[in-house]
This record gives sequence, C-alpha cells and structure tokens, in this order.
Amino acid sequence: MARPRVTVVGAGNVGATAAQRIAEAGLADVVLVDIVEGLPQGKALDLAEAAPVVGHDCDVTGTNDYAETAGSDVIVVTSGLARQPGMSRDDLMQKNAGIVRSVVVEAVRHSPDAVLIIVTNPLDAMCHIALDASGFPRERVIGMAGVLDSARFRTFIARELGASVTSTQAFVLGGHGDTMVPLPRYSTVGGVPITELLEPARIESLVQRTRDGGAEIVALLKSGSAFYAPAASVAQMVDAILGDRRVILPCAALLEGEYGIQGLFVGVPVKLGRRGIEEIVEIELTDEERQAFEASAKAVQELVDKLGASPAPA
Ligand code: LAC
Repeated sequence: MARPRVTVVGAGNVGATAAQRIAEAGLADVVLVDIVEGLPQGKALDLAEAAPVVGHDCDVTGTNDYAETAGSDVIVVTSGLARQPGMSRDDLMQKNAGIVRSVVVEAVRHSPDAVLIIVTNPLDAMCHIALDASGFPRERVIGMAGVLDSARFRTFIARELGASVTSTQAFVLGGHGDTMVPLPRYSTVGGVPITELLEPARIESLVQRTRDGGAEIVALLKSGSAFYAPAASVAQMVDAILGDRRVILPCAALLEGEYGIQGLFVGVPVKLGRRGIEEIVEIELTDEERQAFEASAKAVQELVDKLGASPAPA
C-alpha cells in the first residue's frame, strides 16, 4: 500500500518542523512547498538525510511547484507572515488572507480530495478564506489552534500539580485569540477536574497564561513566534486523520447551528477521522462558559466582517 501523502505549504519554522514530525513519526511522505527558491528543497533534503539515522522510510521532498504536490491526502497551510513583538494576530490579517487564498487555490487544484489543515493566523479568519478559496465542504477545512492552546494549558496544569503531562486533559474552545475560552471544568488530571484540585485564583492565573501563551513565546524569542508546539499539534491532527482514529480534539470548525452559531469558524471539540471532521461534539456549557464562548465567537465574527469589507487580493 502506498504511503499517504501530506503537503506542507510554507517552509518556515512551523512548516518545516511539522514536516519533520510527520515524516519522523512515519505518518506520510511529505512534500514541502514554498515560494522561496531553494528553501523547501534544502530543508526537505536535510530532513530526508536524517531519515537513515532516525530510521523511517517516509520520503521528504521540497518544491516551488504545486504540480509536485498532486494527490495529497492532507494539505497543511502554514504560509504567511509570523507575529512580531507588539503585533497582534489580527494585524496580520489582510496580508495573510491574500497569501492563504492563493496557496489554497493552487494546492486544491492538484489535490481536490485532500483535508485542509489551516495554521496561518489569525486562524479562525484564515479558515474562512480557505473554505471559500477551496470550495471544500466544511468537513475538510479544519483550523489548528485548540490543540495548541490546550497543550499550553495542560503544560501549565501539569507543572502546577507536579503531575505528568500525559495524565492531563484540557479543552480550550472559542477563537484563537485573546478571547479564547479555556474550560477548567473539562480540564482534568487523572480524570479529576482541576476545579477540585486547585484554588480558583490559581486556576485563573493558569487560564490567563494560556490566553497569553502565543504572546509569551513571541516576547521571549523577540523575532518570530512559537513553532515546536504548533508543529506537534499539526502532527497530532494529521495522525488522527490519516489513521482514521476518531480522536476528539479542539479544532476550529465551521459551525452551522452547533453551539447556537451559524456560519462561523470557532474552536470546538471535533472528532477527527479520515474524512476530516467526522462529528462536531457539543458539550454542556454553564451560563458563564457560554457567555465567554459567545464573546469569543463575536470577536471572530468582527474579524471576519473586517475581512469581508476589504478583501485582500487573491
Ligand atoms: C501562537 C501564535 C503563533 O499561539 O498564534 O503561538
């Protein structure tokens, strides 16, 4: 049986690291694409030359030509400008919208049956561009944000309680922005909700650190933004899809009535399998949680409206 094929668009830190994780986990052959000549070819060759040492047989190739991505099962879109210190995710929007639109059009022309995973920020708004540019059904356009935000929350919870990260679960819903909604009631250590393990003030500080998680890394790195945890999050989603695992992960999905929201990408728990989104999972929210979720959705809607008012050139 032929190995699955994953195209990663954008050979920057997130794209190249995602390519590395996907190949080194043996998930798929990877085609790395970028507009910069030599960059995807060089990084791909370097990754391929690591394969004998790491011990996997996945092929990693780099190209500037989308024809070489043909027949991909999954397309990961990471291209765009990264956040700089002091720059909000939303400042990036107009520039990245044009980039995402053009790469999605090119990529889906050669892989009409692929599942799209969008990573470019501002994430939820870029998912709308990708949905529109691809003409794909909502099941095959998925945004990566919740896995990352939840991973950050899990890291902070595990450190706070001196427990293994593998014993933690967490759900962060809503938009991938300052209004994201970490849900302590659904965040557990060894199956026990953290609301039973930590004082409210401690939980609130972990929640706030999670909301600021992207900015915390940007402030430390000074140029550029996070890429190891984002790339690991992409690889987990690719694994769930290619392996038809039906893993329930928080992802940005187009809601069509779920959670009372219509026609908007927002982070919610979804079941990921071979067809992409197999199911949108609706969980019970308290009034307070629902208000926070709705405020987050409103912030996403405002961004999407701004995009609609002045569309970036395709
Ligand atoms: C982050 C930025 C890249 O969360 O969105 O790290």
